[in-house]
Amino acid sequence: LPRDLYAPERVNSPGLAFGDSARLAELMREAAAAAGPGLAAPVIDGTERGGATRPVPSAIDGTAIGQVLEADEAAADAAMEAAARAFPAWDATPAEDRAACLERAAGGFEAHRGRLLHLLQAEAGKTLDDALSEWREAIDFLRYDAAQGRSLFRRPAALPGPAGESNALWLRGRGVIAAISPWNFPLAIFIGQVAAALMAGNTVVAKPAPQTPLIAAEAVRLLHAAGVPGGALALLPGGPEAGACLLGHPALAGVVFTGSTGTAKAIQRALAAREGAILPLIAETGGINAMIVDATALPEQVADDAVTSAFRSAGQRCSALRLLVVQEEVADRMIAAVAGAARELRIGDPRALSTDIGPVIDAAAKERLLAAIARGRQAARVHLAGEAPAGLYVAPHIFEIARVEDLTDEVFGPVLHVLRYPADGLDAVLASLKAGGYGLTLGVQSRIEATVARVRAALPHGNVYVNRSMIGAVVGTQPFGGSGLSGTGPKAGGPHYLPRLAIEQTATVNLA
Ligand code: SER
Repeated sequence: LPRDLYAPERVNSPGLAFGDSARLAELMREAAAAAGPGLAAPVIDGTERGGATRPVPSAIDGTAIGQVLEADEAAADAAMEAAARAFPAWDATPAEDRAACLERAAGGFEAHRGRLLHLLQAEAGKTLDDALSEWREAIDFLRYDAAQGRSLFRRPAALPGPAGESNALWLRGRGVIAAISPWNFPLAIFIGQVAAALMAGNTVVAKPAPQTPLIAAEAVRLLHAAGVPGGALALLPGGPEAGACLLGHPALAGVVFTGSTGTAKAIQRALAAREGAILPLIAETGGINAMIVDATALPEQVADDAVTSAFRSAGQRCSALRLLVVQEEVADRMIAAVAGAARELRIGDPRALSTDIGPVIDAAAKERLLAAIARGRQAARVHLAGEAPAGLYVAPHIFEIARVEDLTDEVFGPVLHVLRYPADGLDAVLASLKAGGYGLTLGVQSRIEATVARVRAALPHGNVYVNRSMIGAVVGTQPFGGSGLSGTGPKAGGPHYLPRLAIEQTATVNLA
């Protein structure tokens, strides 16, 4: 396989030393200076349209930080039709030019760092380190797709064949792709979907989550400014009705979706019920992600990694740790270490540099989490039940359950469950995790190589992390995504994502 499929020629954006407090304060000032009302309107053929107006509340304190004009069904239809008209020309645009648009957009994202950080904090309630990581990830997606797509789509691949004939494999765009993205990574996942679909030659109608339209609108402005034609990328802020309209539109050629397993299945059913072509769905959903801790694990490492994985980003990551599975002999010590470290986390305004856990996304999410916490308090042993300040804050909780099967649903917030297993009970735990059907992230904390190998081989999980945290997959380094109830693959930020968004065509020519 070509080297540029697995390691396309490019570099990820540099990290930031979080010990450098002067630099962090400077970034905070940069984000604050870029505050100001946002606007997300439907953008069709490069032109903003009207729609029912609604204020967008900040996840931090509920104040209006801008307005969204919500797309109705007519706007959804118009967006699909504009994208269908734009498809042939965009698909015929040389891969080099499409890649150059994405790379210019990466530069635009760098130039508008303050505004993007501000919106990630104000609209989605991100802490500064989460906002920075996300901004970097979005840029990395743009450069990764550009670099890989430049070589994949530049010319057909010559294939071996008998003398007297030539064989070539072409990759071409599929048509109009609907990109339906979540609020928890409103910039990185939005861009991960859109950039890949565009690079593969498709035109895109992007429907961001209703909670986070402003940052999506900013991203679309930057993509258009970088040269992506108006018709090739439409923005459709709005609710489920607009989404349903996209799924039913005759011009639709495929869907990229990140969100819940239930919604992914509903999309799959809607696609199956359509007349005509069998359409592909790329879905990345959730997980009941476990970390297996055996008696040889280092308690400080476990405490640090479990707390980071379970509670950072207020647990609102599909990769987040949900179930800590600890060998009985060391369980009391490990659980106490994790609970002790979690107790130190600071909850509050994500714009304060000392904050570890910001708000959850909205009142409905808080209500769902409080209900899950109330159930946990009834059913399970409580190891940690913190207090949260007023507002959309939810304190970390740790509950102990008796069996893997007791945890049936992904709780999308700062709620960790723990479970003890006897030294001879690891295989039973692994069998139960496998039977649960999710397969996203998996942690292993052990200093026995054979145990690590056994756990990894027993489970189909997409991202396995050994003796480290389970969140923050890096583009091109830890391609992200799972299988089973956790999604269809291919992995985002990995070598097989772009080809899945294309159709393949071989041409065999008789040279005789
Ligand atoms: N890509 C993110 C992570 O790895 C997903 O939630 O944490």
